[in-house]
Amino acid sequence: MPARLKTYRAVANLLGALDALGWRVGYRYGDRQLLEGVILPSLAADVGAGHVLLVGCAWYTRDYPEFFTRARVSTLDVDPAKSPFGSRRHVVADMTALERHFAPASLDAVVCNGVLGWGLDSPGDIDTAFASTVACLRPGGQLLLGWNDIPPYNAVPPDAVTALEALHPDTIPGLDQHSVIALERNQHCYQAFRKPEARS
Ligand SMILES: C[S@@+](CC[C@H](N)C(=O)[O-])C[C@H]1O[C@@H](n2cnc3c(N)ncnc32)[C@H](O)[C@@H]1O
Repeated sequence: MPARLKTYRAVANLLGALDALGWRVGYRYGDRQLLEGVILPSLAADVGAGHVLLVGCAWYTRDYPEFFTRARVSTLDVDPAKSPFGSRRHVVADMTALERHFAPASLDAVVCNGVLGWGLDSPGDIDTAFASTVACLRPGGQLLLGWNDIPPYNAVPPDAVTALEALHPDTIPGLDQHSVIALERNQHCYQAFRKPEARS
């Protein structure tokens, strides 16, 4: 087993044991509090028993699937070593290959936080990844995008992503605005989008 995977598996087991004791370890910064305290619970209520995809896994997102008590939750990360932090339905894949793993119009929501500019970097890959996201979202499905509007993470900001033009700006779950800077220090922004309903 690769060393990083072994280490992350041990970390996930330890954190899981602490979680079970009620001692959750995580980030306490305002951006995480907003995400974990308001946005994800509200999105979970919206999604209900639907299918949600969380892109990008880390030790501090290990329990994010638990927000979605009724939904089917898939996770996806290009780094195989992050698998221990994924859900039971975890996919090791690049976001550019989303359509190989999820059927068209099958997802009710996609949460993509800290991936744009954090490995998903080249303009071509970014456009492919979000075009695939659009294809896999059902009409009316939601995209929650989290990104950092500071160099080097904002080389391709959402405004410059052509594929996102297929989505409408939407209000962030639990808030009444399309976009929010959740942490000034690193300009961590959340932005919400919705795929247009199909015309009858
Ligand atoms: C900074 S972490 C973000 C983790 C989490 N989503 C969050 O809320 O902070 C970035 C993660 O995105 C993954 N990642 C980067 N580029 C990716 C891509 N093109 N496809 C899938 N995952 C990617 C990395 O492997 C890493 O685990």
